Amino acid sequence: MGVEEELLELHKSLFQGFSKLSKEERFERLKSMGALSSEDVQFLSKEGNTSFSLAEKFIENVIGFYQMPMGVAANFVIDGKPYVIPMAVEETSIIAAASKTAKWVRDNGSITTESVGKNIIGQIQIPRVKNFENLKDQLATHKQEFIDEVNQVVAMGLVRRGGGVKDITLRHVERGDGDAMAVIHVYADPCEAMGANIMNQVVEYLKFPIEGISGEEVGICILSNLVDTKVTRAKVVLNNIDEDLAEKIEEASLFSQVDPYRAATNNKGVLNGIDPILIATGNDWRAVEAGVHSYAAKNGQYSSVTRWKKVGKQLIGEFEAPIIVGVVGGVTKLHPAAQLGLKMLGVDSAEELSRICAAVGLIQNLGAIKALATVGIIEGHMKLHIKNLTLGAGAMEKEIPLVQKKLEEILALRKRISLSNAIDVLKEIRDQASGSILTHKEN
Ligand code: MEV
Repeated sequence: MGVEEELLELHKSLFQGFSKLSKEERFERLKSMGALSSEDVQFLSKEGNTSFSLAEKFIENVIGFYQMPMGVAANFVIDGKPYVIPMAVEETSIIAAASKTAKWVRDNGSITTESVGKNIIGQIQIPRVKNFENLKDQLATHKQEFIDEVNQVVAMGLVRRGGGVKDITLRHVERGDGDAMAVIHVYADPCEAMGANIMNQVVEYLKFPIEGISGEEVGICILSNLVDTKVTRAKVVLNNIDEDLAEKIEEASLFSQVDPYRAATNNKGVLNGIDPILIATGNDWRAVEAGVHSYAAKNGQYSSVTRWKKVGKQLIGEFEAPIIVGVVGGVTKLHPAAQLGLKMLGVDSAEELSRICAAVGLIQNLGAIKALATVGIIEGHMKLHIKNLTLGAGAMEKEIPLVQKKLEEILALRKRISLSNAIDVLKEIRDQASGSILTHKEN
């Protein structure tokens, strides 16, 4: 067995039965995988591992920290490399579904990924352009000079790392009132950063030189989150899949491709896999959400960012959208949990992190539509949901197993379950218990 195969086997065996382990056993397994050190375990074991002064480094009017549960998605092998995926998320079933679906794919197929393009986009808007042709000519004449200048003055750090501003183009956009806007796009390679800060500095810097050469008045200067110049793709291939199941998944996918109402929910399910990684690594999930949703509407109608097709005996799924992330700067550097998240993933580059997000998003989508097309989504949610309802009803430690058992019986019978069921069950159990105490006393 080669080194890579040995690593895969080790990964596979260490994730075996992972969800059934105690927290301490999980830590031990993750240490064996090299994903956590003893110091990391110490950090994770502390309740409330964040400080007030750290919060003040990020935002204003600080009153504390809002903590989110963090778990790991198991069984992910992406481009042949095993990963431990940290996910910070509050929603029941996301990590369980991702891990289960990743196992299915790991054992019966593959996940591959790629990134296409390197440049992010900044916009410089001229709200009411006076002479578009003149602006176009002047920009063509001065473009290289602007690129060189802004690279020397603002983006020199990026240039040193092989990035920086690469191009400038111009768009004509109708205002809808008879006049037109001119929208200048600035393209830059942000290297390992997400690039928002640097791009905003670049476009603001270029405002005055552009007004100078054109006599036009610049309005808004800001980056665009619709980064169709830098997209990430993921592909899942499942071999020898049950034909009926593959057809059902293909049909579910078609629904999300042609109906925007379904597409929105489909894409939310994809982002269920992506956002938790963004949060766990200190990335700006709002920016990625904006990018994914706007890309989903790139053809004029909002559609799904994933598609699934049955091809012979295979099921093939694809994801494509911008996932613009960074592994340096800002929160990724300052937040100790984000540092830990990045370390657990063992990523070398922003590009690799983006590809992992795409892969997990696609797997999460597969898990969701497989459930929707077969047993429905409730079944998978129920175990934890019952636990939450039990706690929500106020059950004490010793009452929990009994309440859960009764709720499972109600669910099996009525196919529905609610908090009021849990409250009723708990009351019944307590009434019975006090009844039996009374009977004992009377006797
Ligand atoms: C729930 O968080 C996500 C799903 O609604 C996604 C989907 O419908 O594809 C289950």
